[in-house]
Amino acid sequence: MIGRGFLGCFILCLSLASVCAVKGTLNSIKDLKGIEFGHTFPRHGLMLLHWIANNIYNDNNGNMRLNFNPARRDYGFHFYGNRPCSLPFLLPESGRYYSLGNMNSNGSRALPYYVTRSFYNSRGPERNMDRVVLRVRDEGSNQFIADEVYVTQHYPLNENRGTGYDPTRTYRVNVILLRQIQNLSNINLNVIPQTYHAEINHSSLQSLRNTWGDTPGLVLLLALVLHFTHRNILFKEQALRLTSQPQSGMDNPRVEDDKSLIKLEVKTTDRGKARIIWSGIPKRLLDQGVMVVLYKSNGSESKLDRVSVGGKASGSYNTSVPLNPGLQVRLHKKVMILCVFATIGDEICRSSEFHDANREIPAYINDYDASLQLFVKDGKACARLYVKKSFTAWKKTFNNSWVGFYSSEGTLDHKTWQWAVKFSEESCSDWADIPGYDVYVYKSSMTMSPGVQARFILEKSGGEKARTPPWERLVQG
Ligand SMILES: *[C@@H]1O[C@H](CO)[C@@H](O)[C@H](O)[C@H]1NC(C)=O
Ligand SMILES: *[C@@H]1O[C@H](CO)[C@@H](O)[C@H](O)[C@H]1NC(C)=O
Ligand SMILES: *[C@@H]1O[C@H](CO)[C@@H](O)[C@H](O)[C@H]1NC(C)=O
Ligand SMILES: *[C@@H]1O[C@H](CO)[C@@H](O)[C@H](O)[C@H]1NC(C)=O
Ligand SMILES: *[C@@H]1O[C@H](CO)[C@@H](O)[C@H](O)[C@H]1NC(C)=O
Ligand SMILES: *[C@@H]1O[C@H](CO)[C@@H](O)[C@H](O)[C@H]1NC(C)=O
Repeated sequence: MIGRGFLGCFILCLSLASVCAVKGTLNSIKDLKGIEFGHTFPRHGLMLLHWIANNIYNDNNGNMRLNFNPARRDYGFHFYGNRPCSLPFLLPESGRYYSLGNMNSNGSRALPYYVTRSFYNSRGPERNMDRVVLRVRDEGSNQFIADEVYVTQHYPLNENRGTGYDPTRTYRVNVILLRQIQNLSNINLNVIPQTYHAEINHSSLQSLRNTWGDTPGLVLLLALVLHFTHRNILFKEQALRLTSQPQSGMDNPRVEDDKSLIKLEVKTTDRGKARIIWSGIPKRLLDQGVMVVLYKSNGSESKLDRVSVGGKASGSYNTSVPLNPGLQVRLHKKVMILCVFATIGDEICRSSEFHDANREIPAYINDYDASLQLFVKDGKACARLYVKKSFTAWKKTFNNSWVGFYSSEGTLDHKTWQWAVKFSEESCSDWADIPGYDVYVYKSSMTMSPGVQARFILEKSGGEKARTPPWERLVQG
């Protein structure tokens, strides 16, 4: 009987193993050439892979540690149940799978614009099919280790094969590949030929840089992948495939896609209002006349404010619209009526949606299973407490704790404050159903402006345990 039981288990394990087997392992940048993972617009796979490689760091024991908390849904990570399985079968004690890349989650607004850009500026399911999946071990004390990294994708919609990930297009990513991608940030161009057996010349890099900006290492990664994938196609044509919808089957690749230089952003005025920033508008469009328009959100046609762009490629405009999550800037053609009235014409491109916490993830409250995040609503500085459900005594422990709002990193005196236990439970949004966490919020009377900071103070008379990054400290890409 034992033998039969064993055999049964053996067969079961064998079938699980074969059903759940991934297609292969990617060991180096060169291996990316054989797979279709964000190599063409509007897919975002290569950008996800670049982002993850640069947000994992290797400790002295060779572990891949995470700079974020996937269980808290940072950056839109979510738990992946692997059913039907497309990744190796996983016992609960060996970790959990977390997936990154669904651009419909509000958390993904925290990702840099180079990852979300094609999503907001294209249509169709292809723009949201790529994923990076991590097998994550929770080490306690807010330490997370990725034991495995995978790239995968949804089935193409027209194949009608459900909403799982396609195991035949799922690959394990060797840590060496991640290190190579990390290394591209500070590699000397002269060593590329001998390291990768690839000739990447400066003019090729420049044409990618014009579009993708200066995110360290990104342009080189794209250049190498393009080089390995389509060796015999003109580089400009290759680069175009990454940045825009092929027009009429790429018959005319010489039309430079000058729209891809445009950058639009929502920032903060010193009065808690939305500030629109634009740059890179090509002369061709400036000559025709363009307007920037602030919308309530990507899904909304409600126009909150607008301004004509004069003859300058870059500029900014302080609106009187209170800052709120979801706000979006779009660039439109300007249409003149009777040479006097300017009205809004066709759309040219759009920004990502405004992330309510300004792309910052929560700051841990030292020694406790809780974290603090500064965010904005109706132009006011607000704070959010993430409390792990296992920290059941938090109300007692934090009975004398408070959150203070400060006008800048350097000030000692808060402008306003609230007891931690007086925060109200978040019940009707994204945050209400993060498994393992309860989320509490407080909206202060303080106007949001650049530099504002929230701090968590344990006792009435002191004991700072956390402070958020100052609002808009990041130079955003
Ligand atoms: C990364 O760069 C370092 C120093 O330049 C080099 O020693 C190492 O081999 C590189 N690693 C990979 C995986 O390319
Ligand atoms: C660099 O690449 C471009 C585009 O592929 C090509 O036109 C140009 O001749 C190359 N320049 C050099 C110096 O190899
Ligand atoms: C717009 O807001 C920014 C940021 O608060 C501020 O520095 C700038 O002076 C404002 N510009 C105008 C014209 O009010
Ligand atoms: C953004 O809006 C466009 C047009 O309404 C829509 O096709 C797309 O799905 C929207 N994307 C998001 C993130 O909501
Ligand atoms: C802390 O606990 C004491 C006694 O249980 C209570 O009187 C006090 O109101 C609590 N503090 C806060 C901020 O709720
Ligand atoms: C995402 O954010 C928008 C506000 O921008 C909100 O209306 C919506 O409910 C959020 N989505 C979810 C699933 O909570």
